[in-house]
Amino acid sequence: MQNITKQFAARHSFYELNKEIPLEKKEIETIIKENLELYPSPFNSQSSRIVLLFGDAHEKLWDITKAKLISISPKERHDSIKEKIAKFSQAHGSILYYMDKKVIDDLKLKYPLYAHNFDNWSYQANAILQFMIWTSMANAGIGANLQHYNPLIDEDIMEAFDISKEWELVAQMPFGGISDIPEAHKVEKIEQKFIIKEK
Ligand SMILES: Cc1cc2nc3c(=O)[nH]c(=O)nc-3n(C[C@H](O)[C@H](O)[C@H](O)COP(=O)(O)O)c2cc1C
Repeated sequence: MQNITKQFAARHSFYELNKEIPLEKKEIETIIKENLELYPSPFNSQSSRIVLLFGDAHEKLWDITKAKLISISPKERHDSIKEKIAKFSQAHGSILYYMDKKVIDDLKLKYPLYAHNFDNWSYQANAILQFMIWTSMANAGIGANLQHYNPLIDEDIMEAFDISKEWELVAQMPFGGISDIPEAHKVEKIEQKFIIKEK
């Protein structure tokens, strides 16, 4: 396996997380800032935004999510919701991934020929950034997983953290010390996923 592929292989959806991490806050900040500089984006538009939550802010994210889920779920599901969200609260911090809609709207005006592509392309660029950070964290000994409680939590999160209305929440990534290493995901047969043609 190539060195870079080994680094990809270290990334998993780590759900058993704790507060003990092998990096300082500043080092996490550096990983995120470096990847925000490096990720590719359509017309180099860099529409992705990140909000990094530690301490009370991290707890607040998961308190809001739990309250929202409970408010729309039948009573018999409340215990399992609390159990699931507790796993994310137990992590050290969370990364919120956003897209700046103003950047995307400006692109649509500037390049009308591609206007219909820009929403999709911006999600794709955001996903590449998520993967880069997820992989960087794993290789620094920090586990993370990817969650999507948007759009349910968008309004409350916007208010709680004073986020611009121009920013659209795309994903939430709790991260922390690794309490348990999951098995690598099951791999589907390569034959149905990959084709080579020479003529
Ligand atoms: C676009 C995308 C959306 C995902 N959404 C969720 C999610 O909402 N909740 C979750 O627990 N995992 C989510 N995952 C994680 C996948 O379930 C996980 O990557 C997959 O099962 C393979 O496992 P691995 O990450 O350990 O390799 C998502 C992954 C991707 C790429």
